[in-house]
Amino acid sequence: MSPAVAVVTGASSGIGLALTKHLLSKKWAVVMADINPPSTDLGPSTLFVPCDVSSWEQQAALFAQAFAWHDRLDFAALNAGIDDRDDIFASIDATTPPREPNMQTFQTNLVAPYYGIKLCAHYMSRNAVPGGRIVVTASAAGLYALPAIPQYSATKHGLVGLTRSLAPLADRPGTSITLNALCPAMVATGLAPPGLMDGFPAEHTTPMSTLLRAYDGLADFDGVARDEWRTSPRRPNGCVVECTLAETHYRDPPEPPNESQKWMSAGSSEYWAKAYAERNRRFAEMDWKAASNGA
Ligand SMILES: NC(=O)c1ccc[n+]([C@@H]2O[C@H](COP(=O)([O-])OP(=O)(O)OC[C@H]3O[C@@H](n4cnc5c(N)ncnc54)[C@H](O)[C@@H]3O)[C@@H](O)[C@H]2O)c1
Repeated sequence: MSPAVAVVTGASSGIGLALTKHLLSKKWAVVMADINPPSTDLGPSTLFVPCDVSSWEQQAALFAQAFAWHDRLDFAALNAGIDDRDDIFASIDATTPPREPNMQTFQTNLVAPYYGIKLCAHYMSRNAVPGGRIVVTASAAGLYALPAIPQYSATKHGLVGLTRSLAPLADRPGTSITLNALCPAMVATGLAPPGLMDGFPAEHTTPMSTLLRAYDGLADFDGVARDEWRTSPRRPNGCVVECTLAETHYRDPPEPPNESQKWMSAGSSEYWAKAYAERNRRFAEMDWKAASNGA
């Protein structure tokens, strides 16, 4: 029987590399996607695919190659991420109009995971038993404001919202995909610019072991390898897991303040579905790039 297959983006360094090694220790086959190659060859159970996840074409080619490897895709960690590429208030000058800002952080941290989820939905539906699991790497900066890196914080808040909004429709008969988000606090990796970690208080640094434990809780790697997870009564979905120090906390959305907002969140779906079904079908059929305004 072929091994369970994972795609890990941003796999050449930091959290993605640690997760790759963790999956290998559980006998998974791992497709390592990154703009940079890993510094060491991790053996025949890995397949490195050079990929800039912010490009739809490159990510589509990545998932096609990943699925073709063993004719299955069981898990994806949409993990590649970067910090800020613009600083609004440090770059304004009263005498010169501003230049168009660099929005690559949004493209890499938010648009790319959206592409990845869409591609997973396709390839996981082609599994012998359709379905699979996805974990996006958000951040504690997706739960709390981080004024030093507002672009980053906004994209990670976006991933939390995307996870909570997409998950209910992902895990149902026919798709069987679970989508969860990890929100690590500060972890010592290559993400921070040189100097940030120098002298950063060790008591505020989260160990990688906390993240790996959270991944195990969300994706049940042993169960997937035994093909048991689909029947498991415990299928975390739409969960947002904060990892801080040695602790993991499952974060619920804010409590609605009144009955109306409770209904908006939990009871209004038939109204939305009716209004959007036809419209979204039109969008799906449309060549939106060729259309003038996509409306
Ligand atoms: N380190 C932390 O403190 C921390 C905390 C919370 C969340 N995160 C998130 O964890 C994820 C992994 O980051 P990390 O801390 O391991 O950093 P890292 O810099 O060590 O690893 C990120 C990897 O992503 C790759 N990458 C960057 N842009 C890419 C692109 N466009 N296409 C493909 N690969 C790309 C890099 O080459 C690198 O190998 C990121 O999404 C990050 O935002 C990190």
